[in-house]
Amino acid sequence: MAVPTAALRRAVELRAEIAFHNRQYHSLDDPKISDAAFDALMQELLRLEEAFPELLTATSPTSKVGGGLNKAFSEVRHERPMLSLENAFSRDDIEDFWRRLQQKLGDDEITLVTEPKLDGLAVSLIYDDGHLVRAATRGDGETGEDITNNILTIGDIPQQLAGDGWPAHLEIRGEVFMPRAGFKRLNERALAAGEKTFANPRNAAAGSLRQIDSRVTQERPLSFYCYGQGAYPSEALPSRHSQLLEQFRGWGIPINPEILLVSSVEGCLSFYEDLLKRRPDLAYDIDGVVYKVDLFADRDRLGAIARAPRWAIAHKFPAEEAVTRLISIDVQVGRTGALTPVARLEPVFVGGVTVTNATLHNAEEIQRKDIRVGDQVVVRRAGDVIPEIVRSFPDQRPRSSTPFEMPSHCPICGSKVDDSPEETILRCSGGLFCPAQHKESIRHFASRKAIDIDGLGEKLIDQLLERHLIETVADLYELSPIVLSTLDRLGEKSSQNLMKALDKSRHTTLPRFLFALGIREVGEVTGRLLAEHFRNLEDLMVADQASLEAIPDIGPSVARHIMTFFQQPHNLEVIRKLLDNGVFWDPLPERPPTEALPLAGKIFVVTGTLDQFTRDQASEAITALGGRVTSSVSKKTDYVVTGRDPGSKATKALDLGIELLLEEDFIRLLKGKENETIGAELS
Ligand code: IVH
Repeated sequence: MAVPTAALRRAVELRAEIAFHNRQYHSLDDPKISDAAFDALMQELLRLEEAFPELLTATSPTSKVGGGLNKAFSEVRHERPMLSLENAFSRDDIEDFWRRLQQKLGDDEITLVTEPKLDGLAVSLIYDDGHLVRAATRGDGETGEDITNNILTIGDIPQQLAGDGWPAHLEIRGEVFMPRAGFKRLNERALAAGEKTFANPRNAAAGSLRQIDSRVTQERPLSFYCYGQGAYPSEALPSRHSQLLEQFRGWGIPINPEILLVSSVEGCLSFYEDLLKRRPDLAYDIDGVVYKVDLFADRDRLGAIARAPRWAIAHKFPAEEAVTRLISIDVQVGRTGALTPVARLEPVFVGGVTVTNATLHNAEEIQRKDIRVGDQVVVRRAGDVIPEIVRSFPDQRPRSSTPFEMPSHCPICGSKVDDSPEETILRCSGGLFCPAQHKESIRHFASRKAIDIDGLGEKLIDQLLERHLIETVADLYELSPIVLSTLDRLGEKSSQNLMKALDKSRHTTLPRFLFALGIREVGEVTGRLLAEHFRNLEDLMVADQASLEAIPDIGPSVARHIMTFFQQPHNLEVIRKLLDNGVFWDPLPERPPTEALPLAGKIFVVTGTLDQFTRDQASEAITALGGRVTSSVSKKTDYVVTGRDPGSKATKALDLGIELLLEEDFIRLLKGKENETIGAELS
């Protein structure tokens, strides 16, 4: 069949595009499109070549493994080609893979090894007489680059194999990668120094391995996991891959602990699902999982096709990043008037869902990432985290594009935007006159962790406000079934349920009530802290700045917001009306006099990061037992509770001879004292 001109033209176009992106990715470590967009180009070319086999040539990128080589490193010819993996994306693909294995291997039980697919760089390590003598990148699969000096700087990779029994000559293959924490630190440092940041840990790992000066590589947080062997004497090879990995582990080679053996499609899929769920919590990026036949004899029977073995397959996760166009930037106004820019995107499938909006955080971030309306941008959606824009492609934008500027007036109510230098965020100055702030404050009041009015969603609040059925949150409790029946899309049943939910929400707690009021900087934790301290609303309402600041963890700014809130007549009016309309809470139980508590008179300072407590929780635990928490160490301090990365407070405590309590000591002290209290109460 003759190849249609359109198909021929498209294949030529695709090959040029793929060659360009291959070079950007493999040789220059500066990808211009996402991995998913690159995969899509490859898939399109593969499909074209499948439909018109005449198009297939030996030089097509579909029959080659990787990109070009960087001339700065000398070339290394691999003793055995470094193959790539075929990709699978669905259950069907895995079932096909399994069927193909069964066809070739017959009815014998098939055992597969399942492994995470690390998102880093493949390397080959040659050990002669147990010494690491040469390391190379994969390159095009046949020839790679000699990166021995750089590999020698990676602490994870042994320069001398441990134990004994290793063959005189062997090749380890695995992935060099940059753990996320190290990547984050590296980029933060680059940013502070005004240097270029890396797009993702994979690029950072690639850039680090390709350094001409290995002192630079040494500074980079690189790690390594081995996933197999290259050249290896067949007589020394155990019969299974899983046994070989165990042997390697014994010689000091890092092996990923997340490796399992399975013997069914279901086993593969549950490994996939489990890792997909845990993906956000892993210390490193993975882009899927790999299934490999365990028995080497079976691998030999299966063999390889063009660029990939038939005995393994990569089951890819949905890409966490994708490229799309930024249509516009809207500015949203939150409960406290904070202006947040939000990106409106051309719909794009990423992280398993279609995304149309992404957060842009603030103006500074837009400037730092050089993002403009109309740009092609990389959108990232990792786990259930709100999608965000990672970067733009400035060199692809039209000349006419202009930088984004935040408005000087509120886009909702037109009030002036407060951009005073002491504020880090821009805010609408309209207060509750701004419909956006007004609506958000009602939403906040009704939310689950606040007063918790089940069923009172955004649409209903919109209608209630538009029809002037409520003005403040206190008016919610004056709504009647008759009024509710006039609302659109609220049937009799829902209206009854809403009445019930309103009634139920009347019985609340003091911490919830304080949180629901929406005082600036008073979140759930501070609400609880204030309630614990004052025990009733009246005392809090008349507290002055000094007595507020005396409470641990209440700084001058929160104290000021609290005072200002209770000085506004309209706020006092809303509170009075809420109470008149039946909102109430049970009084907090009487607290024993502080002097009687086991930590009475003891002064604590908490420093560093604790594993089992936030700072607030640690403070609460101390004050509940009568102790006091202060922020700086002095001679009066009795104990310094010391978490990870403690800093100068711990040093000062040592200088002053004050007792340092590590987290476990602190827990022991609390437990002991709690028991004393219980014992005292019982006796
Ligand atoms: S096995 C012939 N196992 O994925 C089989 N590869 O797309 C060779 N990779 O070049 C690879 N984790 O860079 C294998 N557990 C794993 C892997 C893994 C990451 C990378 C490796 C390889 C690429 C193939």
